[in-house]
Amino acid sequence: MIASPAIPTEQLRLSVAPMMDWTDSHCRVFHRLLAPHARLYSEMVHANAVVLGDRARLLAMDPGEHPVALQLGGSEPALLAQAARIGAEWGYDEINLNCGCPSDRVQAGRFGACLMREPQRVADSVAAMIAACSVPVTVKCRLGVDDDHEWQHFVGFIDTIVGAGCQTFVVHARNAWLKGLSPKENREVPPLRYDWAYRLKRERPQLQVIVNGGIADAEEASAHLAHVEGAMLGRAAYHTPYLLHALDVRWFGGELQSRAELLRAYRPYVEVQLARGVSLKHITRHLLGLFAGQPGGRAFRQVLSEGAHKPGADWTLVEHALVLTEREPHSP
Ligand SMILES: Cc1cc2nc3c(=O)[nH]c(=O)nc-3n(C[C@H](O)[C@H](O)[C@H](O)COP(=O)(O)O)c2cc1C
Repeated sequence: MIASPAIPTEQLRLSVAPMMDWTDSHCRVFHRLLAPHARLYSEMVHANAVVLGDRARLLAMDPGEHPVALQLGGSEPALLAQAARIGAEWGYDEINLNCGCPSDRVQAGRFGACLMREPQRVADSVAAMIAACSVPVTVKCRLGVDDDHEWQHFVGFIDTIVGAGCQTFVVHARNAWLKGLSPKENREVPPLRYDWAYRLKRERPQLQVIVNGGIADAEEASAHLAHVEGAMLGRAAYHTPYLLHALDVRWFGGELQSRAELLRAYRPYVEVQLARGVSLKHITRHLLGLFAGQPGGRAFRQVLSEGAHKPGADWTLVEHALVLTEREPHSP
């Protein structure tokens, strides 16, 4: 058995979840500016697409994103190994295997959350991935599927994968219900049970455990760190990205910057992308929540939503939106 390398502990504390259609490279560069110490995750990419598809599009990454993980979907060890090797060659700092997605499409392909019922297949996949690349190979999973609430099944799943050399687990701390719930409902309806993630860390202290699911604010995120190495934020990070900055400063130190300062630091990247022919709307869609709950926040959102798709839209639109937020003082 080859052991996958561990991730430096300080890189585990704060991470932004893999989110399809959301955590593309533009989004990750923005999140990196807000949270210099966060670990970022790509959208899930199927191993088959990595091996056979348009890599320049699927694996595009900016050098400023590091540390950044590529999340793979799939269930064929040899294919996953090839995809892991390619991901590492493209510069990703970690390869993460998705064992938590419950969508019908994913179930039809027998990967994602249904892999929780096939621990040996996951172990074989992970072993092949570890052998194929030198960056950490990690797993993101749920607590179980459907009405399986047996701790022994969950810990047995983890132990089987640990036996293949993996030592880092992101635990989305609820079950996936494979029948009758949409992916969106599967992020809300099955109850959260953080205590299982904590117990995993207590009973397997040698593992690196990151907890995910429903973390809404800085207090909640901080409370998890008493029990596990890290907190992974998904929707809260995307919809209220300033939270990432607040957490980064709180946990790692540094000066709290204003939303406007952080946004203006994004300008050089945006200009380069516009010069390459990227439409502003593909970038600004990730910024809409930056002033959520702040004076002018709604106007900021509206100006960007309505203007970014127009031909020729450029950074002046962002400045115009910013002015609307600068009329009144903000809370930090
Ligand atoms: C739009 C969207 C897309 C997602 N795509 C993925 C994905 O590609 N891979 C994955 O493992 N989880 C995916 N998730 C689940 C998140 O990674 C995370 O586990 C879940 O949202 C719970 O965390 P949160 O409550 O902090 O959002 C997605 C979630 C959302 C909202």
